[in-house]
Amino acid sequence: MDRRVAANNDLVQFRIDATRCDGQGVCVLIAPEIFELDRYDLAYVTKAADALVRSDEDVRSRGFEADAMCPRDAIFEMLASARPAPVERPEAEPADVFVPRFVLPELGEGTESLDDWRTAGGFKPQEPMELLQLIEQSGLTGHGGAGFPTAEKWKRMMGADQPVVVANGSEREPGTHKDRWLMTHRPALVLDGVVLAARAVGAALAIIGIDDESEESKSAVSAAIDDATAQGLLDGLEIRLQGVPNRYVAGEETALLNVIEGNAPIPRLRPPFPSDVGVFGRATLVQNVETLAQLAVATVLGPDSYRSAGTHDVPGSGVFTVGPFGGPYTVVEKEFGHSLKDLLAEHHLLDGLQAVLVGGYAGGLLQPDALDVPLTPAALRGANASLGTKSIQVIGAGQCPVRVIADIVGYFGEQSADQCPMCSQGLPDMAGIMRGLEDGTAGQSELDELAVFMDTLPNRGVCRLPDGAARVTVSLLTNFAELVAAHVGAGCPTPQS
Ligand SMILES: Cc1cc2nc3c(=O)[nH]c(=O)nc-3n(C[C@H](O)[C@H](O)[C@H](O)COP(=O)(O)O)c2cc1C
Ligand code: SF4
Repeated sequence: MDRRVAANNDLVQFRIDATRCDGQGVCVLIAPEIFELDRYDLAYVTKAADALVRSDEDVRSRGFEADAMCPRDAIFEMLASARPAPVERPEAEPADVFVPRFVLPELGEGTESLDDWRTAGGFKPQEPMELLQLIEQSGLTGHGGAGFPTAEKWKRMMGADQPVVVANGSEREPGTHKDRWLMTHRPALVLDGVVLAARAVGAALAIIGIDDESEESKSAVSAAIDDATAQGLLDGLEIRLQGVPNRYVAGEETALLNVIEGNAPIPRLRPPFPSDVGVFGRATLVQNVETLAQLAVATVLGPDSYRSAGTHDVPGSGVFTVGPFGGPYTVVEKEFGHSLKDLLAEHHLLDGLQAVLVGGYAGGLLQPDALDVPLTPAALRGANASLGTKSIQVIGAGQCPVRVIADIVGYFGEQSADQCPMCSQGLPDMAGIMRGLEDGTAGQSELDELAVFMDTLPNRGVCRLPDGAARVTVSLLTNFAELVAAHVGAGCPTPQS
């Protein structure tokens, strides 16, 4: 290790040009980095490293050397070589009228039976490679919040010894209700996805995580498992239900693995990734329950019909939760690419709105004049929001956007797993600054401190909870800069209802 330290009165900065690693994945530093200390005296990586790499030949070559030795890099190498050339697909003709795939009008508040889903074509046997190809051709990505390409995950699992499939049905985030809705109303669809995934990766054990108090979902899924067992659909496959404790972070995939093993819901450090070492030390495929339901629908529709909804880059439709911030919420299905503004109009939510929270608590806050945006990850990213958990919540008159974000970040702080100080201390401190803006006790220096968190939070937690908190705060500071400035030293100008 080459370490150079520069210090003056109030700034300590140090730089690591390269590290030697023991080949076990202990070190994850693969390029020269410049560190500073944050307000908790913890080192964080500044953005200055990019410039350093560009300007210093010696540093660059040492970075490459470290890079070449890093097992994390090897993982990506492996993936890249295993990956077939991307399939070039012509732009699909959009369907004239979008036919719902999940939120079926005829279902109302009822529950679809296993027999009905089988009659519609469900539980179709598929060869593993056929299914993997279908996933690639359908362009399926994860619906648990991060949008990770599903096929990439599956490729890591192929050929694993005694793999396990975990269906993530935990859904703690206030204002997101799609997964509970799916498990309660279309349990056979979810179960079909679980069975498809298990058969494809060769798993004899699948575990469905459901929030402890979500009795309706548990009994619907449990009845579907009984019916599937009686009809011989689960031959050689054991499916267990796992209650998930009431902690937001328990839905994070590695925390869920800990819960399944009977431990506290605390995220695990990666690597190893769950696809290498997951539950009970076995390779584990963790997939959100909507992703699995999407998979089941794709097997029935086929890739072309699946892609006939949505856009070329984001095919298909998704299950959204829509409503005023704090509820009541409606679960609806929309094609990706549908206009956010139209969606709000369809639900009579445009009148008197002050802001819209798009993508859930880790998403972003949009101004009323910025709603003409298609519901796709790229378009929403460009607007400082995200598709996230597909929750769309309207902030109405009398609700101050600063308070809303303070409450969200405060909630994240309470739900932190207390492993990483910049998360467990930083999030309450951030919320405190925003509450100070609300009551007029925070001035410009506190606002400047808040902005520093945007550099010191991301990429530093064992999990991505702080990244979500930073993202939603950036949307406030960027999209509502004038309103935030009006709070400085003066308090909230919005009359509270
Ligand atoms: C703090 C935190 C909480 C999360 N909670 C959930 C959750 O409740 N349900 C869920 O499916 N994914 C949740 N995720 C995402 C999972 O870690 C994981 O990415 C997902 O289950 C993978 O499935 P997918 O690829 O099908 O989206 C959470 C992530 C973070 C960082
Ligand atoms: S980042 Fe926060 S929530 Fe995630 S593991 Fe660390 S302390 Fe826990």
